[in-house]
Amino acid sequence: MPIPIIFDTDPGVDDAMALLLALASPELAVLGVTTVFGNSQDLALLTRNALALCALGDRPEVPVAAGTAHPLTRTYTGRANLVHGDNALGGVQLPEPVQRPDTRFGPQFIVDMCRERRGQVTLVAVGPLTNLALALRIDPKLPTYVPRVAIMGGSARAGGNITPAAEFNIYADPEAARLVFNAGWEIIMAGLDVTCSPRVAEPYFERLAKRGNRCGQFLASASQHYLQYYHGQGYAGVCMHDVHAVMALIRPELYRSERVYIDVETAGELTRGQTVVDWRGRLGKAAQTTLLLGADETAFLNLFAERIGTLP
Ligand code: BDR
Ligand code: CA
Repeated sequence: MPIPIIFDTDPGVDDAMALLLALASPELAVLGVTTVFGNSQDLALLTRNALALCALGDRPEVPVAAGTAHPLTRTYTGRANLVHGDNALGGVQLPEPVQRPDTRFGPQFIVDMCRERRGQVTLVAVGPLTNLALALRIDPKLPTYVPRVAIMGGSARAGGNITPAAEFNIYADPEAARLVFNAGWEIIMAGLDVTCSPRVAEPYFERLAKRGNRCGQFLASASQHYLQYYHGQGYAGVCMHDVHAVMALIRPELYRSERVYIDVETAGELTRGQTVVDWRGRLGKAAQTTLLLGADETAFLNLFAERIGTLP
């Protein structure tokens, strides 16, 4: 039986990789996609990206619901287009999607879908966690019928990528992240400790393109801008961050992990948005998170390429 998932995303080059992997994987059934601010300030653009990616993967019927354009307590001013390009997909234009977004607000869509399949749905969140926090606001009992949330976000030991302490998705809305981490459901955290393993350079994307399918070619083109950004930062390859949240569901055995309690700093002058790991159980709270700490890089790259190769 495939695991039903809702994919919450700010698409995004690595989001696109992760969504296409999910669509290509028989272990998962993508019930829907919800969009959130993050890799762009323009939620309508991000929602169009999600629709266009589902169409690219030959799954135009997957419902896409637009969520929130702003964090819980502020107006979003973040600029991620340096990393992902002006259209957040590395400047590559996909055909204008024919499908319209679902009319429901993303967080309401999440609650509705999870109510219909009580106890079955895994939420996969690879952007700021605001939609999930808003879904919890709509129904605080959500964690009693949503057993598991897999996120790309945070960092235990790797430091931050937006501030010295914080990772981008958590920093974008620490208040939301704190609610999500303390809601009572199980969390799988793919943070910066694992999401830059492997760092992926040009030849791998050439390998994806060589298959000749449109999804592989799209990912190879969309990754050009992403690669340039990383090169500018002094790295030879990119991190396929969001892919790990999906891969960890498909192939958990590829990951080394530890069970820990994690909370989110919301107030620190230097540490706002930091994911704080209680390694020694000082807070006396039950571990709620499977923290990914290492990946089998070869198996990860091979399976990703194989799965993308099965798409149109
Ligand atoms: C995260 O930030 C975004 O830019 C990526 O899509 C990923 O979700 C990495 O910190
Ligand atoms: Ca993302």
